[in-house]
This record gives sequence, structure tokens and C-alpha cells, in this order.
Amino acid sequence: MPVTPVELANTKMLITGPTGQVALPVVEHFAKIADVYALARFRKEEDRAQIEALGATVIAADLAEPDTLAAIPEDIDYVLNFAVVKSGDFDYDLAANGEGVGNLMMRCKNAKAFVHFSSTAVYEYAGHEPRSENSPLGDNHRVMFPTYSISKIAAETVCKFVAHQQGIPTTIARLSVPYGDNGGWMYYHMLMMQGGVPIELHPDKPNEYNPLHVNDYIEKIPYLLGAATQEVTTLNFGGSEKVSIEQWCDYIAQLTGFEPVFSENPKAFGSLCIDTQRMHELIGETSMDWREGIRRQLENLAPEVLLSQAG
Ligand SMILES: NC(=O)c1ccc[n+]([C@@H]2O[C@H](COP(=O)([O-])OP(=O)(O)OC[C@H]3O[C@@H](n4cnc5c(N)ncnc54)[C@H](OP(=O)(O)O)[C@@H]3O)[C@@H](O)[C@H]2O)c1
Repeated sequence: MPVTPVELANTKMLITGPTGQVALPVVEHFAKIADVYALARFRKEEDRAQIEALGATVIAADLAEPDTLAAIPEDIDYVLNFAVVKSGDFDYDLAANGEGVGNLMMRCKNAKAFVHFSSTAVYEYAGHEPRSENSPLGDNHRVMFPTYSISKIAAETVCKFVAHQQGIPTTIARLSVPYGDNGGWMYYHMLMMQGGVPIELHPDKPNEYNPLHVNDYIEKIPYLLGAATQEVTTLNFGGSEKVSIEQWCDYIAQLTGFEPVFSENPKAFGSLCIDTQRMHELIGETSMDWREGIRRQLENLAPEVLLSQAG
């Protein structure tokens, strides 16, 4: 039985990382029904204007610097922590991603629920075996993002520590390939296909993931908040359908006429599909068909590349 979703209308929500690909549509959605505070460093003035135009209140702060978090109201009801940094500098990235979630939770001790968005990049490579929440952890994304997997693992540990110490109901949601009308991994693949740039794949094919469409992750957020416990609920958070990079590139080829050029690299990420059992039990199945999601993405971001709007 899925958990009871939290009612977010008229609540006070804090969303970190609001200018990122994943959180921007979340801010847009919830700012229409709730009092949304959006926290990032906001180094670019246009980012601030974009978030304000959505109706959210901007908080310019750095999760690595706890003093800057004083601007967060003390009566926030729900927190969604999407912020992440991948500068490649271990000291800063561990401070912002690892200590950062702790700094944030210490400031939001009275929140009714806290969701920390993690990544399936925390799992050790294990071929085609679907990764369950207790699968071994590892430095999965080192080849492209040297600090990423380690700092996401560190962040989960800090998150659990503070939740336990402070009694904050918390969910850790490990995202698998979030995408939507504003982008996602497969959009980069389309650009590579358009430019004839080789796409590196692990030789153990097919390279399988569980892409999660924006409509689904927005719909599931109230359930993730409902699943939060002081013991901390950790769950995979991906699409119910397993899809390989090879499959989605083939589909993009059908839509655009651009042919993918694959090159094998044993150091590429490799398959990272998830065991969806706990996710389905707690928050239910996702509903977006992946082909439909990709077609909509291209219609929105690059309609000129489509051979036919009929798809
Ligand atoms: N995109 C994916 O394919 C994917 C896959 C799995 C998991 N995830 C997870 O989903 C979440 C969002 O990812 P994303 O791809 O949307 O990220 P993103 O596009 O890189 O955006 C990161 C956001 O975090 C903010 N930020 C960075 N450093 C900060 C700091 N020190 N203090 C406060 N805010 C800071 C950025 O704004 P400023 O630079 O203005 O501070 C920006 O709003 C992350 O937790 C990520 O690990 C993403």
C-alpha cells in the first residue's frame, strides 16, 4: 500500500537547487499552490529573475557556509533538497554536498518532512543486476564527475546522522535519470547524434537505466514527503520502465534521422537499473511512457530536429 501523500497546498516549502534541470519544474509547479522559498547561490542575476518570475521567494545562500542559511524562515513545513555541486574540488564539493545537507537540516529542524535527493550514482557497478537499496555502494561516476558519487554517499550519511540526532522525518530518494521538457541525459545524446559525436557505452550491453519523467517525479513528491520517517526512508526513485541508452538513441534516430555512433569504453558508467520493489510499495508506479516523454522533450527543446511532428 502506498503511503498517504502530504497535502502541500498553502504550506511553506523550501526547495534548494531551484535553477537546476531537475528542480526548476518542481518550483514552477509548487509555487502555484504553496509559499515556496528557493535557495541557491544565485551567482547569475538572470537565475534570480527566472525564479522570482515563477512566484517563489529567492534565498541567496551557499550550503557550504552555514551562516548564509540564517535567511531561511524558521517555520518551513517541507524541504526538498535538490542542490548539488560538481566542481571537481573535493574539499568544496564535500562541504557543499556533504556538510551542506547537514547545515540545511540543522536550520530546518522543525520541518514536518525533509526529502534529500540523492542518485543511483551511489551504487557500485554491478552489470545488469537491478540495484536495490541495500546493494553495495561505490564510486560509480568517477570517470565523468570525480567528486560526485563520493560526495552523494557522504551527503546521505550526514543526512541520516542529522535526521537521527534531531528527529527530523526524512526520505532519501535516489534518482535515476530524471528528464523532462527542459532537458535530461538523452537530450545530450540527441545533440551528440546530431553532431556525429561518438557516444561512449560500456561494452556489457544493453546499458540500462530507469528514466524518470518530470510529470512522474512532481506527482510523487507528496508521497516521498509522506514516506519520511525519523529512522530515514531510503528508496530508489526512477521510472517503473527499464530502458537502455541504445533503445532511447534508436528512438531518437527514428524521430530525427540522426544515427548514433557508439564507441565502447569499459570505464563508461555501465548499466545502472534499479530494483523498483520498495519504490512501488511506498509511492506506487510511474505512468509516463518513455517514448512519449522523449518525443515531448524534443518537441519542446528542438522541434526543428523532428522529421515529422506526427512522431
Ligand atoms: N540531472 C540528473 O541526471 C540527475 C541524476 C541523478 C540524480 N540527480 C540529483 O538531482 C539533484 C538535482 O540535479 P540537477 O542535475 O538538477 O543539478 P544542477 O542542474 O547541477 O543544479 C544544481 C543546483 O544546485 C545549486 N547549488 C549548487 N551549489 C550550491 C551551493 N553550494 N549552495 C546552494 N545551492 C547550490 C545550483 O545553483 P547555484 O549554482 O546558483 O548555487 C543549482 O540550482 C541533485 O541532487 C542530483 O544529485 C540528478
